[in-house]
Amino acid sequence: MKKKLKLGLFGFGCVGQGLYHVLTETHGVKAEIKKICVKNKNKARVIEASYFTYEAADILNDPEIDVVVELIDDAEAAFTIVKKAIENGKHVVTANKKMLAENLQEIYQLQQTYNRSILYEGAVCGSIPILRNLEEYYDNDLITSIEGIFNGSTNYILTKVFEEKKSYLEALKAAQDLGFAESDPSLDVKGFDPKFKLTIAIAHTFGVFIRPENIIHVGIQNISAVDLKYARENNLTIKLVARAYKINGSIVGFVAPQYIPSDHILAAVRNEYNAVLVEGAFAEKQVFIGKGAGSYPTGSAVLSDISALTFDYRYEYKKFTQDDGLPFCNEATVDVLISFPEGTLISHRDFETFKGGYQGKGYQYLQGSVQLQKLKEWAEWDEVSVILAPQINLTPASQPAAVERLSA
Ligand code: HSE
Repeated sequence: MKKKLKLGLFGFGCVGQGLYHVLTETHGVKAEIKKICVKNKNKARVIEASYFTYEAADILNDPEIDVVVELIDDAEAAFTIVKKAIENGKHVVTANKKMLAENLQEIYQLQQTYNRSILYEGAVCGSIPILRNLEEYYDNDLITSIEGIFNGSTNYILTKVFEEKKSYLEALKAAQDLGFAESDPSLDVKGFDPKFKLTIAIAHTFGVFIRPENIIHVGIQNISAVDLKYARENNLTIKLVARAYKINGSIVGFVAPQYIPSDHILAAVRNEYNAVLVEGAFAEKQVFIGKGAGSYPTGSAVLSDISALTFDYRYEYKKFTQDDGLPFCNEATVDVLISFPEGTLISHRDFETFKGGYQGKGYQYLQGSVQLQKLKEWAEWDEVSVILAPQINLTPASQPAAVERLSA
């Protein structure tokens, strides 16, 4: 039987406190918190003062501490902590999506070099056990797609705005108060956060490391009352969907809101719940649903990683080591519906195939298929709302240019 793991925590915010709680309530896990490093000396703490330190070295240089649990906000500082912890022979558990997405290949290398484990189930879709399933259950190259709702805050906002007719700002404030939103909520509403999660998921689904800035993302911040009305009148709802497909030897992935038919499985995923749909050549479609944000759900995913360390688990990145390194590509067209105030400089000429449009009450609506690059362009305009059609009809270019060629 293994000894009890001693943990050193960085950060004691929403997830840190959630972890403390679930660890205290879960008796089977052989782990205990030894020290917690925090920044703010003046903040009142809900647990004994003796747990806390303000010096990172008190954890990183403590030979008794086996595992560093990194739960801070700042991605750059988090990466420094993770590197130092691994160099000092400790395992790491983290839920920092941005830090992971921006440094994933180096994080993989660090584990190989120092023979230590870095686990991060809580970073992708909160409580949903997706990464270990991608690593262990889908341990082959037969997955053809991964898609779903990867952000709890935006799903919560869309649910409240759509079902309860709350204002966007009111719903955003509630998502912040409930601890779902990032401390900079534009990371949620503009689609950065689900993009970071998609970057991580792509590495474990297809075995490729890509840079998050190469994934095109559209947020929900420009969705307007006219879009909600259109959805209601057509038996649709709106969800922010992250997706990646293996098509013609490339990986195509992006994040954007989409009109979802009310009988589609994603339509039933409400509030802070997330969903991941995995499709494989033979298993066909499978769905995971669970809370994607919040103190205890994310704390429970972090605890599951700590528990996995008690039996020496590490991600093997088998698909990465087996595969030839598929290129990531953005050259494809998708079907969208866009709405914008009249006078905005967008016309049917921006579409590859224009399928119609109309004007009314100061707004213009256009529909058709566009290049993914157009989504990127429009996502940067205020007041242009870009929502994918219920059927996106993704069509890759016949000879796509790779955004980046990845090493195997
Ligand atoms: N802000 C994130 C979300 C937290 O809303 O999904 C969980 O990663």
